[in-house]
Amino acid sequence: MATHNLLLMPGDGIGPEVMAEVDRVIAFLGKKTAAEFRTETELCGGCSIDKHGTPLTDAALAKARAADAIIFGSVGGPKWDKVAYDIRPEAGLLRIRKELDLFANLRPAICYPALAEASSLKRELVEGLDILILRELTGGTYFGEPKEIVTLENGQKRAVDTTVYTTSEIERIARVAFDLARKRGKKVHSAEKRNVMRTGVLWNQVVTEVHKREYPDVELHHILADACAMQLVRNPKQFDVLVCDNLFGDMLSDEAAMLAGSLGMLPSASLGAPDPKTGIPKALYEPIHGSAPDIAGQGVANPIAEIASFGMALRYSCNMAKEADLIDKAIAGTLEQGYRTADIMQPNMRRVGTTEMGQAIVKEMERLIA
Ligand code: IPM
Ligand code: MG
Repeated sequence: MATHNLLLMPGDGIGPEVMAEVDRVIAFLGKKTAAEFRTETELCGGCSIDKHGTPLTDAALAKARAADAIIFGSVGGPKWDKVAYDIRPEAGLLRIRKELDLFANLRPAICYPALAEASSLKRELVEGLDILILRELTGGTYFGEPKEIVTLENGQKRAVDTTVYTTSEIERIARVAFDLARKRGKKVHSAEKRNVMRTGVLWNQVVTEVHKREYPDVELHHILADACAMQLVRNPKQFDVLVCDNLFGDMLSDEAAMLAGSLGMLPSASLGAPDPKTGIPKALYEPIHGSAPDIAGQGVANPIAEIASFGMALRYSCNMAKEADLIDKAIAGTLEQGYRTADIMQPNMRRVGTTEMGQAIVKEMERLIA
């Protein structure tokens, strides 16, 4: 019987509320399958600043490193707006990504049939949508040095962020993109700004070379990132796998979330390189939505992205693809039955809170395996 050691980091805002619904799913699978889940909970983000004065303690990082998978909630909120930049809540999450070298961020944007009307786009544009955004997660503007604000002699300030990529960083994310495409629609769009940025020029060259050398069977398209943002709302179904750098990926994935109906719907997996012995990568799973301080504590947040993120953990870290499919089907079924949290509410549907949505999904899982 396989044992899976999971580190839960609920974080701030709605994080703990949606994580409680993952706990529910874990408890259910623990009962119904041969797998055993061992969970531990740690602080990351504002909650850790409040308790320890830092968004991530070394002890929490060590636990993250040792876990089979980290299930993450969300970090940040107005409460910590005045905290020093280096120890702001987000720095905890960024440190885990960097220290564990979780360079490949998979952000699937799927439009469940029942939600085709909930998108701000027309039904025919999004119905059946299935895009995989692959965001480079440990390089680029997020981590490039120098990154500073300096005061000039004339009293003005000068702020600098640096975008950096090396050949090998681009090669490894390109390979992940092509490997993923081979298991899907065999098409990759690579987005950059080669018309303005040196990193865009190198990105374009390296992706082209990897493609030519190793993946001639996959279709490759280069697209400028701004045009990509436009095409995502003009004709989103043209995309299969979309690969881009850290900053463009941050923005394009939020945009794509709205195609799926709500930011509350999109899960993500952040993966490192596969372990040479087990073939399993270090991994962190998190919804792409934030801590939503405006609705935190009200019990109305949509837990679907968090539950679907746990589903991705089953698929990529626990070797439990069948159970991952079960979660996806249960989410689709629950939506089909009319359950809606506020963010995806539609006329004549059944408006529920976080807990009821989690309960309904587990009930549907139970029905599906009966
Ligand atoms: C995301 C978030 C993070 C990011 C924040 C919380 C640092 O927006 O995962 O998309 O910018 O990467
Ligand atoms: Mg983001």
